[in-house]
Amino acid sequence: MSFSYPILPGGHLLAIEGLEAPHIAALLDLAESYALLNRQGKTQRDLLKGRTLINLFFEDSTRTRTSFEIAGKRLGADIVNMSVSTSSVNKGETLLDTASTLNAMNTDILVVRHAQSGAPALLAQKVQAAVINAGDGTHEHPTQALLDALTIRRHKPDLRGLIVAICGDITHSRVARSNIHCLNAMGAEVRLVAPPTLLPADVTRLGVQVFHDMTKGLAGADVVMMLRLQKERMSGGQVPSAREFFRFFGLDREKLAYAKPDAIVMHPGPMNRGVEIDSSIADDPVRSVIGEQVEMGVALRMAVLDVLARGLRRNV
Ligand code: CP
Repeated sequence: MSFSYPILPGGHLLAIEGLEAPHIAALLDLAESYALLNRQGKTQRDLLKGRTLINLFFEDSTRTRTSFEIAGKRLGADIVNMSVSTSSVNKGETLLDTASTLNAMNTDILVVRHAQSGAPALLAQKVQAAVINAGDGTHEHPTQALLDALTIRRHKPDLRGLIVAICGDITHSRVARSNIHCLNAMGAEVRLVAPPTLLPADVTRLGVQVFHDMTKGLAGADVVMMLRLQKERMSGGQVPSAREFFRFFGLDREKLAYAKPDAIVMHPGPMNRGVEIDSSIADDPVRSVIGEQVEMGVALRMAVLDVLARGLRRNV
């Protein structure tokens, strides 16, 4: 697949905000072709042969880090998973010094997850490598939103006009922010469903409708996207108890009945079963596409690596 314009301007993927519908659609089309090849078992290619990708994760991850590793390997890259817990970060080395050190090793692609919003963008100004934001603070998680859009598109081919209800802990969710930007760019109608304590202060500027009642927020929805209650980022008092939260905002069959009969259920993972989602919904093979989201994560990340590889500055 060739493109007549830069799909990821600047040679990095730092945020969805700023990407336009044609950029996103081109990435999704390319990812769709990788999804097909992955399912056919045709996974080995040499697009990234001689390239080095470093996974630099300052926060825990299962899906994102592993799928970048698989995606990079399938494209022929050399992959290094840097263990931050045993690195010189523990001796006080700064983020920028760590990045400069990795840069000096001729790293081509740096995949960064960090607790501080803006950390990957800062690194992108300092290193030669292409930087991919794998989640920064409460800011963005761009590849998650893209893989979510890819998954939705496989079930609802035209994103324009789709009603997508994003439910739960919006305040702490970089996944929600990236999805709002992505879905708005693609013409979907985005609803946020949460208690007032779990909505960000700037919610009115996000171009969404806000609901505090699941039955109203889910009414007629095509897609129900549940989010994890991020207790580790809470200072206390934002939710009464997990049990109480589930009663009002957890997705069970009764609340899902307000959505369209063919509505799909999504969750970026990791899930808190019985807190934001009931197991009978999470594991429902007809309504839940949570496993497919993970599968699409590999294909989408292959597409992102493919696009970024075309603009790498270092020759191999
Ligand atoms: N969805 C997501 O980012 O999952 P991980 O934290 O496991 O990477």
